Amino acid sequence: MDSLVDKIAVVTGASSGIGRSYARALADADANVVLVGRNAERLESVAAGLPTETLTLAGDVASAEFDHDVIAATIERFGRIDILLSNAGLYVPGDFAEADLGAVRELLSVNVFGAMAIVREALPHMLAAGSGDILMTSSVSGHQAIHWEPVYSASKHAIQSFTHGVRRQLVGTGVRLGEIAPGVVLNELWGIDEEADDSTPRLEDATGIRSDDVAEAVLFMLTRPRHVNIRDLVILPTSQQI
Ligand SMILES: NC(=O)c1ccc[n+]([C@@H]2O[C@H](COP(=O)([O-])OP(=O)(O)OC[C@H]3O[C@@H](n4cnc5c(N)ncnc54)[C@H](OP(=O)(O)O)[C@@H]3O)[C@@H](O)[C@H]2O)c1
Repeated sequence: MDSLVDKIAVVTGASSGIGRSYARALADADANVVLVGRNAERLESVAAGLPTETLTLAGDVASAEFDHDVIAATIERFGRIDILLSNAGLYVPGDFAEADLGAVRELLSVNVFGAMAIVREALPHMLAAGSGDILMTSSVSGHQAIHWEPVYSASKHAIQSFTHGVRRQLVGTGVRLGEIAPGVVLNELWGIDEEADDSTPRLEDATGIRSDDVAEAVLFMLTRPRHVNIRDLVILPTSQQI
């Protein structure tokens, strides 16, 4: 098992849901965490509960300048970046004939451009170190076209082919790249307050999983021995019909 002790991890979308669970799981494994999201107050409150060193950086990942600053601030504070969890994302479902193109553009800017831009900033540091781990939060919607969320599904398909293509470019460099593809995760993306146990009935009938379930799987991916790269991990609620 690869240890996470003293590793430096950047997590985007760390203010709620899956990213907050990532931050907690990493810190519980003794990694130091850089928490990124737009809401500074929420980032601070997540960071305050973590046992290791943290840095919170508030801004919009759809801004290339912000992504540059996130990685620069990480290097300045900790001297390196070992792990990047590119996780921030938006969700917009609905019939495309009625789609708001402003919302389409925003979703693609965050889920595709933002997700890639932070990788672009982190990669040169990892390549220079000859080591590093990047995991994208994709979705089962990136593995098959889901008709009630075609724009979101397209954004996650982009993440799939990005991950597969760049991973091949990284062969021999010591840098691993993969993606995790959850089904329904019962959190704020669906208007559910996980901290208030709103999700319990759906966990009981297994139509949803918890953000913590996704974080546990990511910890598994990150702690494989260095000769193992889990490229794709699909994690579904047992009773999700998809
Ligand atoms: N929930 C699900 O069922 C599910 C299933 C499969 C995949 N996913 C994926 O999981 C990832 C995390 O979503 P979640 O389920 O944890 O939902 P969430 O609770 O709504 O979290 C989304 C996170 O992204 C951040 N974010 C959104 N836009 C941002 C921007 N422009 N710049 C920086 N941060 C931004 C949000 O923080 P701020 O509001 O503070 O910016 C928040 O921390 C997403 O990529 C999503 O597509 C979710």
